[in-house]
Amino acid sequence: NQSKVGKLRDLYSKAAELYHHILINTKLGEQAFDYLQKRGLTLDLINEFEIGFAPEKSLLEAVLKGNDTDENNYQLLRKSGLFVEWQDGSLHERFSDRIVFPIRDANGQIVAFSGRVLSVKPDVPKYLNSPETEIFNKRTILFNFDKAKAEIRLKKHVILFEGFMDVLAAYRAGIKNGVASMGTSLTNEQIYQLQRITSEIYICYDGDEPGQHATKRALELFESLGKFTMGVITLPDKLDPDEFIGKYGAQELVQVLQKQRESPLDFYMRFYEQGKNLTNENAQLTYVSEILNELVSVSDPIERDIYLNRLSQRFGIDKLNLEAQLKTEQHKQAPLV
Ligand code: GTP
Ligand code: MN
Ligand code: MN
Ligand code: MN
Ligand code: MN
Repeated sequence: NQSKVGKLRDLYSKAAELYHHILINTKLGEQAFDYLQKRGLTLDLINEFEIGFAPEKSLLEAVLKGNDTDENNYQLLRKSGLFVEWQDGSLHERFSDRIVFPIRDANGQIVAFSGRVLSVKPDVPKYLNSPETEIFNKRTILFNFDKAKAEIRLKKHVILFEGFMDVLAAYRAGIKNGVASMGTSLTNEQIYQLQRITSEIYICYDGDEPGQHATKRALELFESLGKFTMGVITLPDKLDPDEFIGKYGAQELVQVLQKQRESPLDFYMRFYEQGKNLTNENAQLTYVSEILNELVSVSDPIERDIYLNRLSQRFGIDKLNLEAQLKTEQHKQAPLV
């Protein structure tokens, strides 16, 4: 007598097998397969990640039900998250007409899917995730963590991406220590999992504005949770890693991921400059105070000094004044013990 969790896991593995089979072996999956090939995903990669396709007309219910017409089995399917239930109690494919990416837990067990439409349309979500179940807690899951673990230990660092397609792009280029959160902001739980195996983190989110804002939030979260060595990789022209590899190729992506790493402070210096006209004195003052504010959390005096010098030179402000203001900021942020 299998536990509910065991049964759910079974359903997800079976569903993944079916979706994958449909994608690679059947007419129903042809268009999706072509789409993935156009996006640069090879058959090997599709096999390795067990990517699949859920056709519009559901086959899943029939396959999972088999000959078991038992009420318990129906309830299990209802609650599995693999279907949406209509008013009349009938079950329908949740991922209907979507490419499905299996989401695995840290042990490699499939616990959810994320489904992508073949073409983006208004009012239809581009990606659809499984709802939370007894085996799927979104906050704890990092896409590709199961496969990446060994590589993260080996390379002693992890690269955080925004989307699955970015993790897969890096993977294709041979960079296999990449993971992504589930399309939401990074959580404490995800960071704790990373913390167990590495303290060196590179954030490579999309180069667009939302991506850069998410980078800042992630940096702050890491900073609040422990001692990490952080780096930021920003891609040019607002590209994401997947678009970058499509445009410039795998070799270039490897180069960028390995070499274009900037410190959090360099990132902040660029970040706060956006949308400011720094020939304007008020803008300068705001900018300087924003950077000093970030400098407070830098514990290395030499590093602090480098940035103070830079600010001093760039804006022609006496370094002593900057140091004084930094002290004030430090007092403001000091915990009230
Ligand atoms: P592609 O268009 O397939 O390259 O996806 P992307 O990864 O570039 O998507 P984007 O940068 O727009 O978003 C980053 C991540 O957010 C995705 O990988 C998804 O996990 C998630 N995401 C994007 N759109 C949606 C959506 O409509 N709904 C949900 N739930 N998540 C989304
Ligand atoms: Mn390293
Ligand atoms: Mn994005
Ligand atoms: Mn993107
Ligand atoms: Mn993309």
